Amino acid sequence: MILAAGAGTRMKSATPKVLHPLAGRSLVGHALAAAGALEPQRIVVVVRHERERVAAHIEQIAPHALLADQDDIPGTGRAVYCGLSTLDATAVAARVAQGDRGADVLDAQLDGAVVVTSGDVPLVDGALLTALTEAHATTGAAVTLLTAEVDDPTGYGRIVRDAGTGEVIEIVEEKDASEDQRAIAEINAGIYVFDAATLRGALAQLGQDNAQGEMYLTDVIAIARGEGGRVHAFVAPDANAVEGVNDRVQLAAAGRRLNDRIVEHWMREGVTVTDPATTWIDADVVLAPDVTLLPGTQLHGATEVASGATVGPDSSLTDVSIGAGATVTRTHGSGAVIAAGATVGPFSYLRPGTHLGADGKIGAFVETKNATIGDHSKVPHLSYVGDATIGEHSNIGAATIFVNYDGVSKSHSTVGDHVRIGSDNALIAPVTIGDGAYTGAGAVIRRDVPPGTLALSGAPQQNVDGWVQRRRPGTPSAEAAERAEQAREGGDALSSGSQADTATNSQGEA
Ligand code: UD1
Ligand code: CA
Repeated sequence: MILAAGAGTRMKSATPKVLHPLAGRSLVGHALAAAGALEPQRIVVVVRHERERVAAHIEQIAPHALLADQDDIPGTGRAVYCGLSTLDATAVAARVAQGDRGADVLDAQLDGAVVVTSGDVPLVDGALLTALTEAHATTGAAVTLLTAEVDDPTGYGRIVRDAGTGEVIEIVEEKDASEDQRAIAEINAGIYVFDAATLRGALAQLGQDNAQGEMYLTDVIAIARGEGGRVHAFVAPDANAVEGVNDRVQLAAAGRRLNDRIVEHWMREGVTVTDPATTWIDADVVLAPDVTLLPGTQLHGATEVASGATVGPDSSLTDVSIGAGATVTRTHGSGAVIAAGATVGPFSYLRPGTHLGADGKIGAFVETKNATIGDHSKVPHLSYVGDATIGEHSNIGAATIFVNYDGVSKSHSTVGDHVRIGSDNALIAPVTIGDGAYTGAGAVIRRDVPPGTLALSGAPQQNVDGWVQRRRPGTPSAEAAERAEQAREGGDALSSGSQADTATNSQGEA
């Protein structure tokens, strides 16, 4: 059971606390991932604050999870009461589904262990929850709670133990604690394993007579103990792992810790990380051994990097798949696939739908979108490739624009294999350039180019002799031209039998 109904007031945010992102998942997403590792029979998330937003998010990321609505009564105890009612309803439904029509069917209840965790403890992972449930099973306790010894217990519930036996007697919330109790360094992590029947019995007895006027789940401990139930405290081996997120300062601190853990994990799996402090890796990113991440690299979402690839420095990639041995330098990308051996960057912008083939290249100041660039094809400099398919072994000249937008709608362009597009071309979509075709520099291609054809456009070059001296007299340009003219005449006078007439240079090739 994941508690996610609270308002999260201390975040001072229009976004519910449990939906704030950390390492590519929402806070409640981390709780769901950790809970999932236990392979529970059922998962229920208790919701209330911003119910529709939180519920829609959970349905999206964990469609198998049940949702329980907390009613008007505030507090973690009430939240668990509402969650347990929903779980008990599934026990009734299961009996009915089995064809049970007995009179007692409506009394069916859940039994076994109920793990309760919060939507605001993102560092608690599946391994820690597993250790907690294993401790619960071995000790046979009615309640097992996760505690931690911390340097600064401010804000947490304190664990009050019997001075003689060391047994846990109760949990006291900070706002209800005495001066002495506030000095206790052992805190409640807010994560528990309960025997279902013990929990159900104790929840029914919760009151709201405390500093916050809420039903505290923490009161279940003293109640269960009073009824003879055994309470076991499992002290977290790493106190940092239980840190809750209540405000933005704690959000950043938890994000840093989580990132440290993820980066360390990948280094132990064989990834070279030059600068762990400036490398950010989301929880769902997958890296192969012998990947190298250079400083300032941020890998987000479902990004995957294959063996031998190098990413960075200063690259930010979301949902990008990078093939073996590829290099991606100073690049901003999302929703792209880069095949093995390809090179990207520096200063490239890959937008969704970009597919770069094996050994292909997307070079400096190139933007791509919804573009498939075939194996061994290159877009080396200063281009925009939008809504295009480029075949294999083709080269797109510098500063070429795939003109995909006519102001109303977008169209697609196709370039074949072994094509040579000249520099500074505008390919006006929809247009098709056949295999082996060439286009001249500066061409504006509005009609299809058949295979093997050279396409040229624009007027032949015209040189107007002496135009600057006549039309811009007295300017520095005119003076410079004058000096060049005199130098040429002087040179001509010195060398008899001058070179061929330079006028031949003005004749176009075509
Ligand atoms: C709680 C514990 C405290 C513990 C701390 C650990 C209680 C009374 N206190 O305090 O002992 O040290 O967690 O982080 O349990 N929630 C609901 N419904 C509500 C109130 C809260 O679902 O009516 C949910 C919140 O969304 C959150 C979780 O319960 O995910 C914890 O609530 P929060 O208000 O953060 O409790 P703390 O004050 O941190
Ligand atoms: Ca909290």
